[in-house]
Amino acid sequence: MKLLQADRLIGELMVPPDKSISHRSIMFGAISQGTTTVHNFLTAEDCLSTIDVFKALGVTIQRKGSVVTVIGSGIDGLEQPHQELNAGNSGTTLRLSLGILAACGFTSKIAGDHSLNKRPMERVMSPLRQMGANINGENQTGLPPITITGGKLKPIEYIMPVASAQVKSAILFAALQTDGETTIIEKEKSRNHTEEMIEQFGGTIKVQDKVIKITGKQKLVGQEITVPGDISSAAFFIVAGLILNNSQITLKQVGINPTRTGIIDVLKQMGGSITFSQMDKKNQAADLKVSTSKLKAVQVKGEIIPRLIDELPIIALAATQAEGTTVISDAAELKVKETNRIDVTASELNKLGANIETTEDGLIVYGPTKLHGGKVSSHGDHRIGMMLQIAALLTEEVVELENPEAINISYPTFFDDLAELKEEEQ
Ligand code: S3P
Repeated sequence: MKLLQADRLIGELMVPPDKSISHRSIMFGAISQGTTTVHNFLTAEDCLSTIDVFKALGVTIQRKGSVVTVIGSGIDGLEQPHQELNAGNSGTTLRLSLGILAACGFTSKIAGDHSLNKRPMERVMSPLRQMGANINGENQTGLPPITITGGKLKPIEYIMPVASAQVKSAILFAALQTDGETTIIEKEKSRNHTEEMIEQFGGTIKVQDKVIKITGKQKLVGQEITVPGDISSAAFFIVAGLILNNSQITLKQVGINPTRTGIIDVLKQMGGSITFSQMDKKNQAADLKVSTSKLKAVQVKGEIIPRLIDELPIIALAATQAEGTTVISDAAELKVKETNRIDVTASELNKLGANIETTEDGLIVYGPTKLHGGKVSSHGDHRIGMMLQIAALLTEEVVELENPEAINISYPTFFDDLAELKEEEQ
């Protein structure tokens, strides 16, 4: 597909609903008592995989556009599925579901697509095994398909070896079904939507910085949830607005949970003009106004990494337009995302004239570089596809993208939304 070109971006946009919160709203709805209604649910492939998995587990879920109703009967209401559960491309669906299945007294099997079936699962299986689940990957590989026989679980104290909200969340879901108190000690603070939603659904959880304590056998009750806009989707337009000349964009009601806003901190440090207005405290959302800015290189490393892990490819693109050398480190987790995002970000942007080196745990981006046309691929990774489309806005020549449909994983209307904002000089 030939990617869109633009001289500048002007206007307002409502980005799609948050993917992490949409997944969790179905899961919490399924294990709570009563009806959960989710407003502004993300109807993209990943979250639809979560709906399918929980329907296959016997939960009544109805969707009318972006409003989803889940009728929960607690964890005991889940039934043994008749077929293998399919998480598609979604790591969140697979890993978090394992935390729930760990307490279900039946055997089930869950797998995903070609990309997901290559992603590491031992990180979730190991703590769930310690809690008492019988759980194994295919041929002892630690890779999906995963077979899990759940049952009575015991609480654990777990020091997380990697910073991962998916692993933390799987343990929290399992911990909710134990008879005692589970302690999780995080390596670095990762997104906390699961912790927040436990409280939202009527449970209690104690969080002191990186130490989380939760007791099991709590009664969760169905809720009305309104999902804010996804900052990870907004990220593409935030960077586009900063690096394209004479641009000004307002992104409406974007989620600004502090465990997700690392990208704003980094882009502001780079000199980006980003301002917040219309704060909605209840839904942790705000309008973000972005305008063209002269960017300078920074170092991105340490504790901030989990707060912007999904945004690193688009931050790397911003760095190609910044003055100086941007060093991204402590980000080895990028290698086990939908693709190896260290390699793919560098190889695809370099095809367009960027000067990026890969390291063991990150990227070195030499800026500024003028980007040119060429042929690139999303490699089936939604965030790489969208990042490359933003890169293409800067080039005079055409950029062709292989596998553009990857964007459907998180943002099916991405190209249409971009087309609404683009302006060509007459
Ligand atoms: C997510 C956690 C992150 C992130 C993913 C969504 C979540 O993964 O990359 O896109 O919703 O919990 P890890 O937990 O593997 O870091």
